[in-house]
Amino acid sequence: MLKRLDDADLYLGDCVEVLKTLPDNSVDLVITSPPYNMRTRVRNGKYTTREKSEHFSKKYEHFDDALPIDDYFSFHCGVIDELLRVSDTVILNMQIVTGSKEAWFKIIGKYALNIKDIVVWDKGHGQPAMHSGILNRATELILILESNPQAGRFLRNATFDRGTLSDIWRIGRGGKKVKGHGAVFPEKLVELIVDNFKSDIVLDPFMGTGTTGVVCVNKCRKFIGIEITENYFNISEQRILQAQETILEKLNGFMRNQKRIRMGE
Ligand SMILES: C[S@@+](CC[C@H](N)C(=O)[O-])C[C@H]1O[C@@H](n2cnc3c(N)ncnc32)[C@H](O)[C@@H]1O
Repeated sequence: MLKRLDDADLYLGDCVEVLKTLPDNSVDLVITSPPYNMRTRVRNGKYTTREKSEHFSKKYEHFDDALPIDDYFSFHCGVIDELLRVSDTVILNMQIVTGSKEAWFKIIGKYALNIKDIVVWDKGHGQPAMHSGILNRATELILILESNPQAGRFLRNATFDRGTLSDIWRIGRGGKKVKGHGAVFPEKLVELIVDNFKSDIVLDPFMGTGTTGVVCVNKCRKFIGIEITENYFNISEQRILQAQETILEKLNGFMRNQKRIRMGE
């Protein structure tokens, strides 16, 4: 299902299916954070799915997030292939957790040529790990991929000047709290990306609660979002509509002020 808002196309559906319907090179930039596979765990050295676990992830109320590791790998390869078909630049935030580690490290090898660089997102402090012998995770990795890559680290759609952006982005997790969804982007992270890369049309195939869309509204970019879970889709729609309303109110206030100034009030 497609909902068209002003400068935002929102799809409720599986991104694997929806991406097939988007034309080649139709967006400038992908900004996304795929599901982490948080409920696939390891027990006695083997992967196991603990869907009913209260102990582990409550990140999503409405999404299982528990694929067998090989399925998680092939799912993401399929998605990345499609993303590189529709967009020149793909900026993908991956979180290394037990249920995703092996797949992401294989993905890094498979797309070695496309991965132009890796950013460390430093979230400031790590939440305590579940067991001894496991590092607290205070960072996430952000892959910058390009289609038709050339050798070297030059990012062809970057807009930042020499010496102005490093490969460590220090942004506290502080995402907007959204009920029932614990994996929300901080708006600052999306703003940093939009400000530093060509981004007239931005796609987020794992839209979640619509943070990428909200930033696109605030920065006057066109946005395309895809989300499989109806509840999160509805939250995205509401947040994006709210952001559009706020912009309109600000614009009206500005116009009123200009009018008063012209009238010498
Ligand atoms: C890490 S969250 C994204 C959070 C988002 N960045 C935000 O700020 O709210 C991943 C999202 O992907 C959604 N998802 C999982 N599989 C999907 C699929 N096949 N197609 C589209 N969305 C999917 C999940 O429902 C979840 O909301």
